[in-house]
Amino acid sequence: MTTSTPQPVTVGIIGAGYVGLTTGVCLGELGHRVICVDNDPEKLALLRRGTPTIFEPGLEAMMQRNLAAGTLRFTDRIDEAVRESEAIFICVNTPPKADGQADLRYVEQVAKEIARALPADYRVIVDKSTVPVRTAEKVADTIRRYNPRAKEFDVVSNPEFLREGSAVQDTLNPERIVVGASTDRARTLMRRVYAPILSRTSAELCEVSIRSAELIKHGANSLLATKISFANLMAEACEAGGADAHEVLHGIGLDRRIGREFLRPGIGFGGSCFPKDIAAFRHTLETLGADASLITAVERINDHAYQRFLQRIERELWVLDGKRIAILGIAFKANTDDIRNAPAIRLMAALGKSGAIVTAYDPQATSKAKRVLPNVRYCADVYAAADGAEALVVCTEWDEFATMDLARLRKAVATPIIFDGRNIIDRAAAQGAGFTYYGVGRATTQ
Ligand code: UDX
Ligand code: UDX
Repeated sequence: MTTSTPQPVTVGIIGAGYVGLTTGVCLGELGHRVICVDNDPEKLALLRRGTPTIFEPGLEAMMQRNLAAGTLRFTDRIDEAVRESEAIFICVNTPPKADGQADLRYVEQVAKEIARALPADYRVIVDKSTVPVRTAEKVADTIRRYNPRAKEFDVVSNPEFLREGSAVQDTLNPERIVVGASTDRARTLMRRVYAPILSRTSAELCEVSIRSAELIKHGANSLLATKISFANLMAEACEAGGADAHEVLHGIGLDRRIGREFLRPGIGFGGSCFPKDIAAFRHTLETLGADASLITAVERINDHAYQRFLQRIERELWVLDGKRIAILGIAFKANTDDIRNAPAIRLMAALGKSGAIVTAYDPQATSKAKRVLPNVRYCADVYAAADGAEALVVCTEWDEFATMDLARLRKAVATPIIFDGRNIIDRAAAQGAGFTYYGVGRATTQ
């Protein structure tokens, strides 16, 4: 029996940000027809010209290819996307409120506009934005409230697991596709959307209830963040106990049940996901009357990792006022230009406040950092940043920091001290080049 290739789906994407743009471009690449909506006129103008508004490897070429092929187009009209699309993905941002709760105003706003535009024929509305459990039913209630005639629709939860810097790859070759749905009709349509991935990769289609899908996302990010905070807790234990976190966490991670990924101690996790998502999950747990203390501890340990690192610098350098300090790496992680919740930004501001003269280098994030911290001297490479510095401080795990010419750096600095916030530099090589090396959880004596 020949397996008929499922019919391509016309897909609406509401919100062309990190999630929406990556999802839309990839669905176009997979053979679907994509109508991408955004309410930011400047962003739309760039996107229509084929200029992506986010840096993701592979995205620009793929976006231009699909624009040229007509499988992708951009508009500011939600009603247009709803009228023409069988599946409408909600990909707007869900920023944290002061208490950590996810701000769902944009999700509601979009749900209202979808409701008003819903035609008589069947539609699936897809929550892809990261939202607390039971949000999908609120989206459905909103649609019914603003369009009492709307009957032929389902709302599903389809969370994304994209990592910045590998978002295209994570979309086209995921480990799992989570779909939370309550009807076969909705599941059938979602299978059509993801058929090109499911037929080409080993991705598992994880079909669950809507609420389970919503909790999988918050749970996955919270567990990943928990592993990182556990690594940072072990690093503190190693510093206090005189052991080496590399050795300890390697030995722990060899247990397949634990796994070696996400056990790298450092200055703490940043980015626009973990801090936002674990705060939202903490708030959800509190609202549900569940015990949120583990999540609270993950947040506290993460902040403590940053504080410990800053205190180490203050302790070793004694007086910061007037001292030239070179920051190597600004982005919240390697392979991205994103500086949201980046520990480096927080650290540069704190050092500047203490009177230090801060120079900085990052392969990609400089232009974004300049808008936030204009008083820092941004340099074109590590050696310029290190010139005359009394300390080098690594804040991002860029590969290039592991292969720097340490002898050349030794000549450039005024005093040879390295604070390695990502344990990316070879300690023995740094010490061999004449540097005093401080890592995270790395006993300073052998
Ligand atoms: C967010 C984080 O930014 C990203 O790092 C993480 O991986 C997932 O969550 P996203 O949800 O895509 O990504 O938010 P954002 O990048 O801010 O994009 C949201 C887009 O929706 C913006 O382009 C915004 O202009 C648009 N938008 C927002 C609308 O079109 N309509 C609205 O009502 C609100
Ligand atoms: C994360 C999740 O990995 C992804 O599945 C989800 O969809 C969005 O949030 P992202 O925030 O892009 O992705 O980056 P990630 O690679 O997870 O790193 C997050 C932060 O943790 C970075 O600041 C990174 O430096 C830090 N980190 C990561 C550690 O400190 N130690 C580790 O072992 C791993």
